[in-house]
This record gives sequence, structure tokens and C-alpha cells, in this order.
Amino acid sequence: MSALVETANLLADRINALEESATLGMSKKSRELAAQGHKVINLSVGEPDFKTPKHICDAAKAAIDNGFHHYTPVAGIPELRKAIADKLKRENNLDWKPENIVVSTGAKHSLANVIQCLVNPGDEVVILAPYWVSYSEMVKLADGKSVIVEGSFENDFKVTSQQLEAAITDRTKVVMYASPNNPTGSVYSEAELRALAEVIKYHENVFVLADEIYEYINFTQEGHFSIGSIPEIKDRVITVNGFAKGFAMTGWRLGFIAAAKWIAEGVEKLQGQVTSGTSSISQRGAVVAWEDMSAPEMMKLAYLRRRDLVINLLRDIPGVKVNVPDGAFYAFPDISYYFGKSDGKVTIQDADQLCMWLLETAHVAMVGGGSFGAPNCLRISTAASDEALTEAMGRVKTALATLK
Ligand SMILES: Cc1ncc(COP(=O)(O)O)c(C=O)c1O
Repeated sequence: MSALVETANLLADRINALEESATLGMSKKSRELAAQGHKVINLSVGEPDFKTPKHICDAAKAAIDNGFHHYTPVAGIPELRKAIADKLKRENNLDWKPENIVVSTGAKHSLANVIQCLVNPGDEVVILAPYWVSYSEMVKLADGKSVIVEGSFENDFKVTSQQLEAAITDRTKVVMYASPNNPTGSVYSEAELRALAEVIKYHENVFVLADEIYEYINFTQEGHFSIGSIPEIKDRVITVNGFAKGFAMTGWRLGFIAAAKWIAEGVEKLQGQVTSGTSSISQRGAVVAWEDMSAPEMMKLAYLRRRDLVINLLRDIPGVKVNVPDGAFYAFPDISYYFGKSDGKVTIQDADQLCMWLLETAHVAMVGGGSFGAPNCLRISTAASDEALTEAMGRVKTALATLK
């Protein structure tokens, strides 16, 4: 291959314009340090450290043994679409038929499909921030324009209805958010979502993309609320969910949308040309997922215990400000107190740099908040053992104490 053909410049503009994953540089550095013999504690990953529940694995094994090996319908096997419709009715007060459901290769795929189906070049997508890194890149791929609206630390990183109203213009097509949230762990209450819905209600051309992938990791008394259950906006809400976080099934690649029929059909049409139906075996496993909810409940309690552990350890570090996350498995402390401080060689400028410095000095991998739209914060995954979390927070505290 000639040198010319190898240059990245020959990639299509849409790919050159994409950001690299924020964790790539950290992962590379982690591997280098590990190869040098350092014991790196990795708190940068967004995935459960539990196994998929046995009844789901058994159903998938049976699918293999029984020869369920072939292409499935693009939108998912009928029994899974029905199980999802039943779950949405039972747990979320969402009244959709199986034909309103499209199963995809992960919630990420579902989100990207919806953006491709709804966003025209120049359309604005309001993203409630801090937000999961891929959202703005998905919008970019559709030639849309992200409008980032930041929830303040004081408001538990949540956007108010006044802020939302101020962000909506004639070009707004979609408002998207995740609750429980990655990276903050914040949960929008029913009252807060009703207030946002009041705004949406009067903007009749605006759709809501509600990412509920962390639904089962919710520590509030009130529990999860789906904005799509509000009748006045129901037809304009696309609910996205999946199996990765609640059932510890990240590798199975299964997500879904529930939406008005014309949107579901658009997603099916797109998927039919690009990926087809997701894995037949994964789908057979997922059909039985809701038959036993003891594992999601057990995992939630473990994440709750670890949240309390990490928050208490963070509160013990001078200058660190932290909210108590109501869900997901992340802590998102504000560490801006350390900006401008130095270890004699390096002067810390922002969270991303502090994150790299902590990896190099304390051998703890986390993610800087810059790529989540929150440059004062660090994301710490609590999907790790109590011992690892305790050891990691101790190392971070010791390292930060050397910054003057
Ligand atoms: C907010 C959010 N949405 C969606 C996803 C993607 O989920 P899946 O693995 O089902 O594609 C993630 C994964 O990290 C996430 O954090």
C-alpha cells in the first residue's frame, strides 16, 4: 500500500471530524504502566463487574443447542418485542405494542439509529449536560448541531425547565438526556421531568430521546420515572433502554427503542440496510431476563454500598466537592481546587490533565470531565471491589496532597 493511501486524510470528512474516545489515551497509558510492573487500579470503565444472571445464560445456551442460529427479523424476534412491550407497560407505564419496539445491537446503536432517523443537516439537538460522550458525536455524524445545556453542580448537575426553554429554537429537533446519568449518577425526579415535559409540550416539532439504560441502578425512594408516560408528549418521546447495565450484559449487545410507529419503522428501515437484526442467541437470552429480577436488585445494592464508600472517602480529601449520586455507578467530584497547583514539575490546568497526572503518579485510571462537558470534574466508576475502591481513593488522596 502506498504511503498516500495510508494517510488518515483519505478518510471521509465525517470520520475525520469524529472525536476519539476519551478513554483511549488513558487506556494506552494504563497498559504501559502495567507492562512496567505497576499495579494500576482501573476505575475508568463504564461496565458492571458482575456476571450475567444464570437464567439468561441458560436460555442463550439452549438457543445455541437448539439450532437457533439464523438471521432474525430486523426489528427483533416477536417474543422479545412482546416481552419488552410487557415490561414497559408493567414497570414504566408506557403503553406500546410490539410493533412500536425495535431491538438493536446495544442502546448505543438504538440512540444512533434514532438520531440518523430524525436529524437533518443543520437541525439542533439539545443535549442535557453533563452527558455521555457519544451523544454529540452521533449528532455530528448526522450533520446536526449539538446545543449543550449544562446542569449546575448546585442543582445536582440537572437542567431546569427555564434552561431548557431558553435553549429551544426554531431549529430544535430533539432533546436528549440520560437518567440515571452517565457521568454524574444524577437522577431526574418525576417532578423535574414533568417540568421539562411542560416545556416540550408547547414545542410541537421537538422530540425527546430518553436514555434509560441505567434504570435499574436507581437508589431513590421514588424510583425510575419514564418521561414517555406523560400522555401529552408520549408520541414525541423515544424511550431507549437495554440490558447492558441492569443485567450486566454489556457484551451481549442488546438495546431497544419504544416509539411512535413511524419512528420505529424508520429505525427498522435504517437497520435493515446497515446491520440487520442483532444476535439471535442474545435475543433468546433477553426474552427471559425479566423472569427473575433478583440479580439486578443484588447489583443495585452493591453499587449503593460502593457509592457510599467512595463518597465518604472523597469527602475526606481536602478541596474535593462531591454530590451524592442517586443512581448509576459513577461518582463525579469537582476537583477544580487543584487547578493551578503544581508538584514542582507539572502545573495542573484542568480535569483531563489531572486525570492523566493521577494515573502516572497514583496509578489510578479515571476519566476527566472535559469530554462529558464538565471540565471541573472527574468520573470515577464504582463498578469495582470495595478493596480496589478503598485502595484507589487512598492513593488519590496521597497524590493530591503533594500538589502545592
Ligand atoms: C448513558 C449511556 N447510554 C447508552 C450506553 C450504551 O449502552 P449499550 O452497551 O447497550 O450500547 C451507555 C454505555 O456506557 C451509557 O453510559
